[in-house]
Amino acid sequence: MKHYLKTVNRSHTNSYKWDSIDCKEQNIIPLWVADMDFATPKPIVDAVVQRAKHPVYGYVKVPNEYKEAVCNWFETQHEWHTEPQDVIYTTSVVTAISAIIKAVTKNKDRVLIQTPVYNCFFSSIENNGCKILANSLINKDGEYSIDFEFFEMMARQASVFILCNPHNPAGRCWTESELDKMALICKRHKVFVIADEIHCEIIMPGYKYTPFGIIADKHKLNYVQCSSISKTFNTAGLHIANIICKNEKYREQIIQAINANEVGEVNPFGVEALITAYTNRECKFYIRDLNNTIYDNYLLAKEKLKNTKIVVTPLEGTYLMWIDIRCFGKKVAMVKKELLRNYHIWVNEGTMYGSDGEGFLRINLATSPERIEAAMNYLLEYYNDKINGK
Ligand SMILES: Cc1ncc(COP(=O)(O)O)c(C=O)c1O
Repeated sequence: MKHYLKTVNRSHTNSYKWDSIDCKEQNIIPLWVADMDFATPKPIVDAVVQRAKHPVYGYVKVPNEYKEAVCNWFETQHEWHTEPQDVIYTTSVVTAISAIIKAVTKNKDRVLIQTPVYNCFFSSIENNGCKILANSLINKDGEYSIDFEFFEMMARQASVFILCNPHNPAGRCWTESELDKMALICKRHKVFVIADEIHCEIIMPGYKYTPFGIIADKHKLNYVQCSSISKTFNTAGLHIANIICKNEKYREQIIQAINANEVGEVNPFGVEALITAYTNRECKFYIRDLNNTIYDNYLLAKEKLKNTKIVVTPLEGTYLMWIDIRCFGKKVAMVKKELLRNYHIWVNEGTMYGSDGEGFLRINLATSPERIEAAMNYLLEYYNDKINGK
């Protein structure tokens, strides 16, 4: 029997997602920022509560058990071998990426990304004095792939490539063969790879996450991997993330950058949460149930939209559905605004993820099926008003 996750009421908890506009009061379904409406697994909640009962929240000494838990997780779940000495902790994946760019680039170096892609990649590159090189992903009949020829042209000029695996927002779970091609090109042109694998546990049936590290180790490539428990277990507010860096010289440079950016101090709750997430059996079942819930929500949304000209991108990984709404013939910022103002749904406009996102919306599926159904009904209402009502 399949198990599914239940949502909890998040209104009026100072939730960025629910309370930035009072969604409950205004009857809006928030499907924007990437956090979920599901409770964090109980063992993690218990561990945080247990720690909170001790009335001192002073500076933290991260125990050896922490790094061992990270390594053991990737070894047992994803067959990727790492050593505790390779693990560097920091406060979030975005702070990690920013520190890594600072550590491995010089001013005006070029950093390659594949667009549309997670918005903070753009700011992290520019905030560190580097230039963005964008290789647009190919979208053929709604399915995304890599233009390897262009990728190589760009890689010739780049010193760093930020890989998003699985890819937010295109929903791709890159195959071994695709990762292999990217790795070989980066090797040829001495490009350092930052693999952001924050979504790596959220994988739909029939797809597989391959850690980029497995491929990169095989090719002896210079790379780091960034991960966190935050997307999988809904703990973004606990601010903890990891960098895995197997090269000692780069590791030292990255630690220096983390210290220079003053993001090397983590909090006691994040440490307890991560150790529990990566060692408690129940948390593995949570992932299975989470993926069931997301996948069924995706099928439900797809079914709802099937008789429209809206194109749903196949969801292979992440809980973020990417839809092509060019049929409306309008700027996506306007569509987002109209949906929010008059049709009760709050989604992300595709242009947040680069100009290739014009004509697309990103929809967060990590909520109840009832809410997804209601949101799709609102979207259909908008569709009927704008397309059929023309
Ligand atoms: C690809 C990717 N990286 C990083 C983040 C943010 O991670 P953090 O909150 O740890 O900075 C997100 C959030 O949606 C994401 O999609």
